[in-house]
Amino acid sequence: MLKDQDRIFTNIYGMHERTLKGAKARGHWDGTAGIIANGRDWIVDQMKASGLRGRGGAGFPTGLKWSFMPKETDGRPSYLVVNADESEPGTCKDREIMRHDPHTLIEGCLIASFAMGANAAYIYLRGEYIREREALQAAIDEAYDAGLLGPNAAKSGWDFDLYLHHGAGAYICGEETALIESLEGKKGMPRMKPPFPAGAGLYGCPTTVNNVESIAVVPTILRRGPEWFAGFGRPNNAGTKLFAISGHVNNPCVVEEAMSISFEELIEKHCGGIRGGWSNLQAVIPGGSSVPCVRGEDMKDAIMDFDYLRGELGSGLGTAAVIVMDKNVDIIKAIWRLAAFYKHESCGQCTPCREGTGWMMRVMDRLVRGEAELEEIDMLWDVTKQVEGHTICALGDAAAWPIQGLIKNFRGEIEDRIKAQKSGRISAVAAE
Ligand code: NAI
Ligand code: SF4
Repeated sequence: MLKDQDRIFTNIYGMHERTLKGAKARGHWDGTAGIIANGRDWIVDQMKASGLRGRGGAGFPTGLKWSFMPKETDGRPSYLVVNADESEPGTCKDREIMRHDPHTLIEGCLIASFAMGANAAYIYLRGEYIREREALQAAIDEAYDAGLLGPNAAKSGWDFDLYLHHGAGAYICGEETALIESLEGKKGMPRMKPPFPAGAGLYGCPTTVNNVESIAVVPTILRRGPEWFAGFGRPNNAGTKLFAISGHVNNPCVVEEAMSISFEELIEKHCGGIRGGWSNLQAVIPGGSSVPCVRGEDMKDAIMDFDYLRGELGSGLGTAAVIVMDKNVDIIKAIWRLAAFYKHESCGQCTPCREGTGWMMRVMDRLVRGEAELEEIDMLWDVTKQVEGHTICALGDAAAWPIQGLIKNFRGEIEDRIKAQKSGRISAVAAE
């Protein structure tokens, strides 16, 4: 288990003051100008050496992403955009940072922006996050008053402005190019990539979009050194990580742990075990709703990192939102609910996603009721394959993968329901 002194987020439970005074007492804003004085290349190299992979879900190496930002920009400004549009079902980790530890994010914005040549950064906040906006704006105001933001920010010699932009509640605006469109005042619809944002991002200028947690860990990594951070977790899965555990555990929580912790230790040490005991565990979605669900018995020995969950279980770490479902859950209906979510949130600009999410939801609806033919299971699988990889953004994949996980891991349950329905053993399982 991670020792207290190795935790980056020292106020994740909100037990201490989130004000600047409290943040400074916990070590934030310590030597910020000295870090910046080491120069742009040094910071990017340190981040590469730390092995930090993006914490928004995709796990792209952060230092590498920063290195894509051009040094010669033909007079165009560069931008950092922080993706705080945390909307992935099950995911509520960035919320805790913004509520209780906002200064670590703000300090991270300054350092990261300097490293990418940006004099301005935008934090794009999920529409529903009202309290988080209040906490973050209060912290930004404090930082301006203390000279930590603005001209010669934190006496670093770097001029830096930080803006908070409140979204309006569309899931798709968490996709980085839709987020950029929305920031520009347009309808939040994803753009084709490439060009990636480093080439043409906000207002067509070089831009890096990073998740809240990815930016908030930067100051501590640079203060303690990349080797310290890389010392946690297995190779290629470095660092500490916020896990958001919800569902049928005795104590749902958000907790910082070392990467590659075992699922069993995570649940026993921090969540007080599975409700009704391990024999009552049916299924787990280990990384937010976009990754396939896994059978409970396969999760018991799982290692919670990118490579194990994808390589060994065909799922993913995603946002590390761990959704635990016991045997009382109707797993088919749970995945139907996700299918309905993705159908609702599709922006509709590409056909496989717009039509496919509706198709998948309607077939899932019949599977929930057991009113489908057995052949429809394979047909549904084929539809997911028509959607996956054939869309502009990852929402199409995200809609397909949970259904693929259900068919792969719970086919027996789907077939049993159809057979029971046909033999008149169940009348109907109503989908709400
Ligand atoms: P992605 O893999 O396309 O990109 C990840 C990042 O790496 C992006 O910033 C992208 O610009 C960059 N990148 C990738 N390839 C690149 C290249 N060749 N050159 C330069 N930059 C490159 O994934 P995406 O669509 O950004 O994110 C999908 C993930 O987001 C899903 O896995 C899901 O887990 C997660 N997600 C998180 C949510 C949340 O609330 N935190 C909400 C919805 C999805
Ligand atoms: Fe829009 Fe879906 Fe296409 Fe993404 S995949 S651009 S959400 S229609």
